[in-house]
Amino acid sequence: MALRILFCSLVVLMVSFHFANFALSTTSSVDTTAEVGTAFYEEAEALLNWKASLDNQNKSLLSSWVGDRPCNNWDGITCDDLELGVTRLNLSNSGLKGMLYNLNFSSFPNLLTIDLSTNLLYGTIPDSIGDLSKLTHLDFSSNNLSGSLPLEMGNLGNLSYLILQNNKLSGSIPREIGKLGNLILLYLSNNNFSGSIPQEVEMMRSLTELDLGNNFLTGPIPASIGNLGNLTKIILQYNSLSGSLPQEIGKLGNLFSLNVWSNELSGSIPREIGMMGKLDLLFLLSNNFSGSIPQEVGMMRSLTQLDLSNNFLTGAIPTSIGNLSKLRQLYLYSNSLSGSIPEELGSLKYVFVVQLLNNSLTGPIPASIEKMSSLLDLNVYGNKLSGSIPSTIGNLTMLTSLILMMNELSGCVPVEMNNLTRLTNLQLSYNNFVGQLPPQICQSGMLVLFGAVNNHFIGPIPKSLKNCSSLLRVGLMETI
Ligand SMILES: *[C@@H]1O[C@H](CO)[C@@H](O)[C@H](O)[C@H]1NC(C)=O
Ligand SMILES: *[C@@H]1O[C@H](CO)[C@@H](O)[C@H](O)[C@H]1NC(C)=O
Ligand SMILES: *[C@@H]1O[C@H](CO)[C@@H](O)[C@H](O)[C@H]1NC(C)=O
Ligand SMILES: *[C@@H]1O[C@H](CO)[C@@H](O)[C@H](O)[C@H]1NC(C)=O
Ligand SMILES: *[C@@H]1O[C@H](CO)[C@@H](O)[C@H](O)[C@H]1NC(C)=O
Ligand SMILES: *[C@@H]1O[C@H](CO)[C@@H](O)[C@H](O)[C@H]1NC(C)=O
Ligand SMILES: *[C@@H]1O[C@H](CO)[C@@H](O)[C@H](O)[C@H]1NC(C)=O
Ligand SMILES: *[C@@H]1O[C@H](CO)[C@@H](O)[C@H](O)[C@H]1NC(C)=O
Ligand SMILES: *[C@@H]1O[C@H](CO)[C@@H](O)[C@H](O)[C@H]1NC(C)=O
Ligand SMILES: *[C@@H]1O[C@H](CO)[C@@H](O)[C@H](O)[C@H]1NC(C)=O
Ligand SMILES: *[C@@H]1O[C@H](CO)[C@@H](O)[C@H](O)[C@H]1NC(C)=O
Ligand SMILES: *[C@@H]1O[C@H](CO)[C@@H](O)[C@H](O)[C@H]1NC(C)=O
Repeated sequence: MALRILFCSLVVLMVSFHFANFALSTTSSVDTTAEVGTAFYEEAEALLNWKASLDNQNKSLLSSWVGDRPCNNWDGITCDDLELGVTRLNLSNSGLKGMLYNLNFSSFPNLLTIDLSTNLLYGTIPDSIGDLSKLTHLDFSSNNLSGSLPLEMGNLGNLSYLILQNNKLSGSIPREIGKLGNLILLYLSNNNFSGSIPQEVEMMRSLTELDLGNNFLTGPIPASIGNLGNLTKIILQYNSLSGSLPQEIGKLGNLFSLNVWSNELSGSIPREIGMMGKLDLLFLLSNNFSGSIPQEVGMMRSLTQLDLSNNFLTGAIPTSIGNLSKLRQLYLYSNSLSGSIPEELGSLKYVFVVQLLNNSLTGPIPASIEKMSSLLDLNVYGNKLSGSIPSTIGNLTMLTSLILMMNELSGCVPVEMNNLTRLTNLQLSYNNFVGQLPPQICQSGMLVLFGAVNNHFIGPIPKSLKNCSSLLRVGLMETI
């Protein structure tokens, strides 16, 4: 190292006096014409060996890699400090195809960041990765890397960003990961990781984003995750995690996004979720959650997206949902929810999707829906709703899709429906509607799908429907 620094000062000096061609070429076997900068033989050798091993070298890119001075404008190489040699390696999205394994990481003692994302690198991650003790940023995402994570990765105590998503990495997530006390982002999604989430994640106190989605992880979500108070994002979607959602999750007061979509989580939704005052997105859909939706859901005042669909939830929709004044998307479909649709839902003035289909909801559609002025899509298919469509529906002038099919709704279709001039999909089939269809039902010419079968409609098919050129599919048979 001392020798290297000596060389460096010498050369910097020479360069500044335009004597560059004296440079230390005698010890190098490679071409040294026009060199500027210091020779870093080990680093140059490691890079050139790797280049030679690649299946596809992207000639245009790596053509700059000649000689023994990687700090001298080699593409993708940065030397922050000319005395320290290579500090950054960035060959992101460069069409490189070959084995990562052939890159000898032991040769880069001063490497701070490495970004080889979006290439066609395959094979395993070499154990020598553990020698990069100063590394803060590692990104091998979107390649074709396989094999398991080397335990030596636990030595990367300075690492802040570990980005490995979109590969074919397998095996379990090593416990050693807990040693990465400075890690801020951990992205391991879209790989073949299996086994359980190690308890040791709790040691990564700086962690703000954890994405383990789309793997084959099993076992529980460790309760200790509640100790990671800096977390803003947890993505565990599309795994096979089981057990309950730990109540400790409520301690994550900075959490912005919690996504456990498509796992096998069971038990009830803990009341403690209400403590996550910054939560913007809560996706618990497609799990085995049971019990009722806790009233505390209404305390998550920052929520914009709430999806609890496709579980085994029972009981009523809590009235407190009306307090989620920022909510934009509400999905509760395919559960066993009962009781009536709460009046308070009308307070959701920014909500544009409400999907309550495939539950056991009873009672009327509340007249308060008139206040949901952003609503585009309302779907209550397959419940036991009764009463007539409130005339206040006419206020929902943004509505494009209204699906009331398969309920016990009755009465006449209110003329105010004529005001819904943006409606493209209207499904009224399988109810107990009577009277005539509103004559102007397609006056705007927007309707594409319309169904009204299995009701007790009388009278003529509205002229506006016959002239409705936009209509692709219409079900009117047996309407009369
Ligand atoms: C690598 O380069 C790409 C494209 O120039 C850039 O977007 C990315 O942020 C760089 N990576 C790092 C770690 O600096
Ligand atoms: C090779 O690298 C150059 C420079 O980064 C890039 O523009 C080009 O798209 C790459 N070629 C392939 C085949 O990816
Ligand atoms: C990798 O580099 C280190 C340090 O430069 C060296 O000691 C080791 O022999 C190299 N390993 C291989 C397989 O070339
Ligand atoms: C990725 O690796 C697998 C084998 O692990 C191979 O079958 C596949 O062709 C590779 N894909 C690409 C894009 O190289
Ligand atoms: C982090 O890097 C510094 C040098 O930048 C080094 O002294 C220290 O040992 C490294 N820490 C760990 C835990 O490896
Ligand atoms: C990854 O998992 C997929 C789906 O199970 C499987 O087809 C593939 O062979 C696995 N690949 C590796 C490298 O384990
Ligand atoms: C958040 O991270 C900082 C350092 O990055 C750490 O000092 C602090 O203890 C962490 N907070 C919690 C609650 O773990
Ligand atoms: C989740 O529910 C599915 C469908 O009913 C069932 O097959 C599976 O065994 C359940 N898993 C757990 C962990 O409860
Ligand atoms: C909604 O919030 C108000 C206070 O902001 C509170 O008084 C009320 O109880 C909440 N409603 C429900 C149903 O939780
Ligand atoms: C309706 O929900 C139940 C669970 O409550 C589910 O098993 C079923 O597949 C759903 N049906 C449809 C058509 O989505
Ligand atoms: C609904 O529309 C009627 C008639 O235009 C209007 O008087 C009423 O204020 C509207 N309601 C809301 C909540 O905007
Ligand atoms: C709806 O249409 C009726 C007449 O069809 C009209 O009187 C009413 O003001 C319109 N607006 C609303 C919001 O209902």
